[in-house]
Amino acid sequence: MENNQSLFPQFLYGGDYNPEQWPEEIWEEDIRLMQEAGVNMVSVGVFSWSKLEPAPGEYDFGWMDRIMDMLAGAGIRVNLATPTASPPPWMTRRYPDMLLQKGDGTHLWHGSRRHYCPHSPDYQHHVSNLVTTLASHYKEHPALAMWHIDNEYGCHQEQCFCDTSAATFRVWLKAKYKDLDTLNRTWGTTFWSQGYSDWEEIIPPRSTPAFHNPSHLLDWDRFSSDSWIERFDDQMKILKEITPHIPVTTNYMGFHKGIDYWKFAAREDIVSNDLYPDTFQEDWIVEAAMVHDLIRSLGHGNPWILMEQSAAHVNWRRRNAPKKPGVMRLGSYQAIARGAVGIMFFQWRASLFGSEKFHGAMLPHAGTDTRTWQEVKSLGNELPALNQLLLSRVIADTAIMMDWESWWALENNSKHVNDIQLIPQIKNLYKAFYDRNIQVDFVHPDGNLEKYRLVVLPYQYILSKEAAKRLDDFVKGGGTILVTTFSGLADENDHIIPGGYPGYLKDVLGLKVTDFTALSESRGNVVMTSEGQVFNCTYMADIVELTSAESLAAYNKDFIIDTPAITVNHYGSGTSFYLGTELDPSGLDWLIERALKTADLALPIKGLPSGVEGVIRQTVHKKWLFLLNTGEEPVSVPLQISGVELLSKTRIQDQIRLSPYGVAVIEMN
Ligand code: GLA
Repeated sequence: MENNQSLFPQFLYGGDYNPEQWPEEIWEEDIRLMQEAGVNMVSVGVFSWSKLEPAPGEYDFGWMDRIMDMLAGAGIRVNLATPTASPPPWMTRRYPDMLLQKGDGTHLWHGSRRHYCPHSPDYQHHVSNLVTTLASHYKEHPALAMWHIDNEYGCHQEQCFCDTSAATFRVWLKAKYKDLDTLNRTWGTTFWSQGYSDWEEIIPPRSTPAFHNPSHLLDWDRFSSDSWIERFDDQMKILKEITPHIPVTTNYMGFHKGIDYWKFAAREDIVSNDLYPDTFQEDWIVEAAMVHDLIRSLGHGNPWILMEQSAAHVNWRRRNAPKKPGVMRLGSYQAIARGAVGIMFFQWRASLFGSEKFHGAMLPHAGTDTRTWQEVKSLGNELPALNQLLLSRVIADTAIMMDWESWWALENNSKHVNDIQLIPQIKNLYKAFYDRNIQVDFVHPDGNLEKYRLVVLPYQYILSKEAAKRLDDFVKGGGTILVTTFSGLADENDHIIPGGYPGYLKDVLGLKVTDFTALSESRGNVVMTSEGQVFNCTYMADIVELTSAESLAAYNKDFIIDTPAITVNHYGSGTSFYLGTELDPSGLDWLIERALKTADLALPIKGLPSGVEGVIRQTVHKKWLFLLNTGEEPVSVPLQISGVELLSKTRIQDQIRLSPYGVAVIEMN
């Protein structure tokens, strides 16, 4: 990834623009209204393949030329999409083998979108022709500012199980294992008579009577993730040859399970994300913050783009929550507070037909005489007030470990507890930091830990010896870690590390887990701290034997009574905490408070009333404090700083009043 700090001179503002759905007479009005709303970039062509190539090899760029020229004339830059997420019907009719196939053998036909198998050579061939032609055609166009490759790779269907995929999987496996003996050993195929004697016997994990081999599943997940990344690479290569100076992105889907975004992000010029929070959920704002922090971390702290959000509701949940007055603005500034340099929407003008006609848009069906339009217009005209923040960063001292491979293996089958899920667990921990306005990064197990004071490992089921060694060194060197149950149990092949859990972390944690017990869904257990606080716990309880660690809290009922549940170990110059169960929120809060004290992490922003989110963006010389009122009541915020509030251009001292869902951005003195 290049350092993309200077890619854009202003905050990007705009959205997906699908002019092909409209008569050309409307386009002039579109452009006039875009200018009125402060739109400076639109994503064009995301789903235009059948319009651009109506028959094999017959290209029609006429309509796109006209709109590109109009946009250039209006000073609106184009994030030009390669429309490869929805191949036209002529293609699937010609090459029925390119349709996605599910594990139960069902084909997924054209008639919606994302129906292609990433391994189909026919698909790849046509993509290569189309992308080469498109890039050659627009390489000099003044509107072209960025490439948007495909759309939400892995959305709807993450994996294809067809015969072509099976053959490609075997090629991937041969490159990884070289010989079948190694594969058989790594997959543990002596179990249930799964030994392979010929590569051709290996198939994707299609529907089976009972559990799949977990090591096979893990490699399949890796392979499937790699496949989408390879399709991105194919296009990236073409685009970089033809337009080397144009930045390239593709849009992610937050904590999307199917693709290892760490691997993916390393290839992009700038990371982008789509986010559609369900504002009916109480904690939607916490989850949104967590996703933004992930996306920023994937790009190693570089600026990123909120490529899609809705200006109002979506249309694909059972009940699609509205964005109440001010909520769209609040969510947009939350993204900026957490490192975004672009606020984009799906989509510009609400469609009159198709399956997204009830989806919110910047310009609703009812036109400009709407609250949504007024909010969109006012935000677009307000954003330039923050242009001086474009080069600023968000700095975090705390990191949560996040690893797609471990996530896949954790949530595979046949464990002693099978209803644990990684993302809710991450969210529980994240919330304890969020509530204290402590900035958090996400870090890969192979990532650089040195810049953090506190590193948290939620359910880090797979942990390599090398990653464990780095954690050990981190603690010896003075760092603090907090490790939860279900961490360090298995190696990269999903084989248990023998000799007691958690694998290679036993020394640094000063303990050995000799067994675990699931807790019944109805009863759970209770954890009592040495100071007498009591917290509920659920899911599972590890049977911990202390070596050098001390117990901070123990279970207080059932046969595990008095067994340590939470421990601390002073190791080298640092400290490690272990949590052998899943605690209720108050328990987690108690534990995080201790970890923060140990790591000597002071609160960066003190005294904010509950419901007010505070985030700092900074450069070497300056700091800006974002204050976000996440509630629907006005609130007065006492301040220990003074400075100019940039959106209202007023000087602030001692306190500031935020309206419902109100935002302030204070340039700190
Ligand atoms: C995704 C897609 C868009 C659109 C929106 C609707 O983010 O990328 O094309 O379908 O969802 O919410």
